[in-house]
Amino acid sequence: MVSEIRLFTETAFIQKAQSYQTVLSSRGVVVNIEIVEKLNARFLRLNPEMALCVDDAGLSLSANGMKMQPDWKAEIPRLKRASLKSEMIARACNISEKPSLIDATAGLGHDTLLMAHLGANVTLIERHPILFTLLEDSKKQAESDPFLSKVVSRIHLVFSDSNTYLQQHIDEHKTVDVVYLDPMFPQRDQNQQAIKKQAQVKKQMQLLHMLLPEDGEMDLGDHLLVLAQQIAKRVVVKRPRLAVFLNDQSTDHQWLGDACRFDAYFNSAFVDKIVE
Ligand SMILES: C[S@@+](CC[C@H](N)C(=O)[O-])C[C@H]1O[C@@H](n2cnc3c(N)ncnc32)[C@H](O)[C@@H]1O
Repeated sequence: MVSEIRLFTETAFIQKAQSYQTVLSSRGVVVNIEIVEKLNARFLRLNPEMALCVDDAGLSLSANGMKMQPDWKAEIPRLKRASLKSEMIARACNISEKPSLIDATAGLGHDTLLMAHLGANVTLIERHPILFTLLEDSKKQAESDPFLSKVVSRIHLVFSDSNTYLQQHIDEHKTVDVVYLDPMFPQRDQNQQAIKKQAQVKKQMQLLHMLLPEDGEMDLGDHLLVLAQQIAKRVVVKRPRLAVFLNDQSTDHQWLGDACRFDAYFNSAFVDKIVE
């Protein structure tokens, strides 16, 4: 994982940059601030290596001439089109019951945003310090947005490794309605069609690919499933449509989409019902 990174900013945003530096340092990342005259597209093109940027849009990651953020505000049109019926993830996670839900693999937080919008109360866990700080920033910005403020009040962000977090739940005999898992899936293991789609990954997804390179440490999530099954009525795993099962465990029920599918595992100690 990245432990040292440059941060570009202009004089007007130095204080903001320093507060991100302090926060990131408490999360184990050394941030070297560089003040630049104009943090514009030209500057980013001339400085294509991965770095952080602080400007009036808050914190972002820059690489290859682009600035990237989880950008929850950009999800608003998608949220406005979504409904409990139309969204497969909502049926898989039984969101109509307004469940307590742990999303143990936050990423950009977009799946969580959708589920919180449709009524779930979500604990959102991310272990990558830079990604977590970007998420925290997106959440803060969303809190002052008239449409998103209510949605994000149902999201509780936690900086942790989910293996530790779920194990703590087990030790404390705590239960939850749903654990949602969307672990990284190595592209080389996907079929050709999926790879083609991946090649067109949108800008925000590139953020994940930048921060979580395939040759870095990648938690493929097998053990998360084992832990999640001990505390949840239902565990839902998002997979590429043709991928192997997580932890080689066949599923109790499956919702199939064009590019991805949701595998559900029910805990027989609880009564749960499927909404098709
Ligand atoms: C494929 S992304 C999830 C995308 C997400 N569903 C979304 O809507 O943006 C997987 C994320 O899970 C995180 N992750 C993987 N293993 C984890 C673990 N053990 N604890 C916490 N986060 C983890 C990775 O750092 C990565 O950000």
